[in-house]
Amino acid sequence: MIRTEQSRHKYETSRRYLAGGVASSLRSAMKPSPLFAASGSGPRLRDVDGNEYIDYLLAYGPLILGHAHPAITARVIEAMERGITYGIQHDGEIELARRLTELLPCADQVALSGSGTEAVMLALRLARAYTGKRKVVRFHGHYHGWSDAIFTAFPSSDMRASAPTSDAAVSPGTGGQSTAALEDIILLPWNDAEALERALRAHREEIAAVISEPVMCNNGCMLPKAGYLEQMRRLTEELGIVMILDEVITGFRLGLGGAHGKLGIQPDLITIGKALGGGVAISAVAGRRELMSLIEDGTVSHLGTLNGNGVATAAALATIDVLASDDGAAYATMEHTARLLVDGLRELLAKHEIPGVINQAGPVFNLMFTDEPIVEDFATFTKKDAAKYSRFAELMLAEGVLVRSNGLWYISAVHTEREVNDTLRAADRVLADL
Ligand SMILES: Cc1ncc(COP(=O)(O)O)c(C=O)c1O
Repeated sequence: MIRTEQSRHKYETSRRYLAGGVASSLRSAMKPSPLFAASGSGPRLRDVDGNEYIDYLLAYGPLILGHAHPAITARVIEAMERGITYGIQHDGEIELARRLTELLPCADQVALSGSGTEAVMLALRLARAYTGKRKVVRFHGHYHGWSDAIFTAFPSSDMRASAPTSDAAVSPGTGGQSTAALEDIILLPWNDAEALERALRAHREEIAAVISEPVMCNNGCMLPKAGYLEQMRRLTEELGIVMILDEVITGFRLGLGGAHGKLGIQPDLITIGKALGGGVAISAVAGRRELMSLIEDGTVSHLGTLNGNGVATAAALATIDVLASDDGAAYATMEHTARLLVDGLRELLAKHEIPGVINQAGPVFNLMFTDEPIVEDFATFTKKDAAKYSRFAELMLAEGVLVRSNGLWYISAVHTEREVNDTLRAADRVLADL
C-alpha cells in the first residue's frame, strides 16, 4: 500500500479551518482520504507523502496540456509582470474573444466569466431575456454547475448520496436551495427524442431554453443517439426555444470547435470552461449575435470583478495556441493515446472476465463495471457497480494511477505510450485482485 499519512494529517488540519476540509465538495469523496498535492508536471502528480501518480483526474478536466505546461506558465508569468488584472479593458480580451469567434462555429460574439457555473447562469439569463419565457429543460445525469437556477439532485454519481428530497417534481441538489428556482426546471431523460418532443410541444409557451451536454460526460460519457441533437435543434427552432449546449467539458477537449463543431450542430448558445484555461479559472458564453447583443443593449447584466483578467486570458490564449499548432496535432495525439488505453483496458476486462463497458468520446472516456452490454442512457448507467469501481479506483491509486471515482478518465496532450503501458500494467494487477 502507498503511505498517505501526510495527506491524512493535513486533511485533519484542513478541516479545522476550511469548511469540510476541501474547497469543492466532490473532493472529499476521494479514498482512502483526500490527497494533498505537492506538485504536478506533465501527466504526473506528486502528493505530500512523496507518491507519484499518473494523473487521469486532470483537475476534473482543465489540464488538457497536463501540469505546468511551459507555454502556459511562460505566458501567465509574462502577463502577471504586466499586472494581474486592471478592471479596465486590455488587448488580451479582444484577442481571446476574436480567437473564440473564429474557432467556435456557433460564436458571433462571446462573454467572458470565471467558472462554468457562471457561464451557465449567463446563458440561462440570455435565453430568458430573449424569449420572455421562464422555464428551462434539462436532463437527468447532466451537470451544469451548482447555482440554484439549475442544480438538481444527484448530478453526479460520486456526489454524496445525501441530498435532501422534497415533494417538488425536481429535487434540490443541496440544502438551502431556492425552491422557486426548481419550479422553473423541467427534468427529462436524455437521448429520448419522444420525451423531448412531447415536453417541448406541451410547454412551448413557458420554455425559454433547453440546456444539454452535447456528450453526456458527467455520467457515463454517452454520445447522443444519431439524430437526437439535430432533432433538438429543429424543435427548439420551430418552437421559439433557445438551444444551449453546455460545452464546459467538451469545449476545446473534443476539438478546437468543441463538440458542436465536431457533430455539426449549430446551437444558439454554448458555455465553455475547464480546458479553455488549461487550469486557470476562465469560462465563456458564445453564441448568436441576436442573443449576445442583449448584453450590449443593457437588457442583460453580465458582471464579474475578475472577468477577462490578464492572467486568465493569457492562459487561455497560450492553451489555444498549443492546441491549434500543427493543425491541431494535439487532438490526434490525445485520440491515439486514449484509443491505446481504451483498447488495452477492454482487453484486460476480457482477460479477467470482468463485465464492463467503456464509453469514449475522443480524449475522455468512462469505464464502468456493469452486466449491460451497451450503456446509452442514464437509467442503464445507474445499474453499474459503483462500489466495485470505487474499490478499483482506490487500488489503482495504490498502484500510482489517479482516476476519478465515477469512472471518468481524462487524457491530456502530454500523456504518452509510456503512461499508457504503466497504467495497463497497474490495471492488470488491480483487476486480478478485484
Ligand atoms: C458540463 C458542465 N457544466 C458546468 C460545470 C460547472 O463548471 P465549474 O465547476 O467551473 O463551475 C461543469 C463542471 O464540472 C460541467 O461538467
